Amino acid sequence: MVKATPFLLVLLLALGAHSLSVKKKCSLVGRWVNDLGSNMTITTVNGNGVFAGSYHTAVTATSKEIKLSPLQGSLQKSPNQKGQPTFGFTVNWSFSDSITVFTGQCFVDENGKEELRTMWLLRSHVDRIKDDWKATRVGINVFTRLQSQE
Ligand SMILES: *[C@@H]1O[C@H](CO)[C@@H](O)[C@H](O)[C@H]1NC(C)=O
Ligand SMILES: *[C@@H]1O[C@H](CO)[C@@H](O)[C@H](O)[C@H]1NC(C)=O
Repeated sequence: MVKATPFLLVLLLALGAHSLSVKKKCSLVGRWVNDLGSNMTITTVNGNGVFAGSYHTAVTATSKEIKLSPLQGSLQKSPNQKGQPTFGFTVNWSFSDSITVFTGQCFVDENGKEELRTMWLLRSHVDRIKDDWKATRVGINVFTRLQSQE
């Protein structure tokens, strides 16, 4: 009995830590900041995985003044996602003629830290079909959860 106690304790701790790391699911809801300093807020994800929010970019391909822009997306809700879902969203830039689509996955590490690994395509408006070849940019962004200052 006395000898078994430390063993049981270790076992319980191991089981506890394991179930914790399995339980934590990556949630898109909240405020995020990426490697360029752009901020995005995802306000709601409904039962079908449809979500909405806003995007405040730190960079722009135009000379226009940056403004908060709406985003709309879909989250994969299939059980095979194992708490690390794939998603896609569109940002409708409110200060330019451009549109950006993001696709990515929400990851959680052993410490419960969430990270969004994304790739994007930015489509700029061009006046002539001749210029179509140069109208799309591609890139990578990594988002981490923005800790609130309050
Ligand atoms: C992002 O949020 C941080 C913290 O609230 C703020 O300091 C920064 O200016 C914001 N950047 C943009 C591009 O909105
Ligand atoms: C997209 O942005 C344009 C320009 O700001 C705006 O007129 C339009 O209502 C927006 N559409 C959506 C779905 O947010």
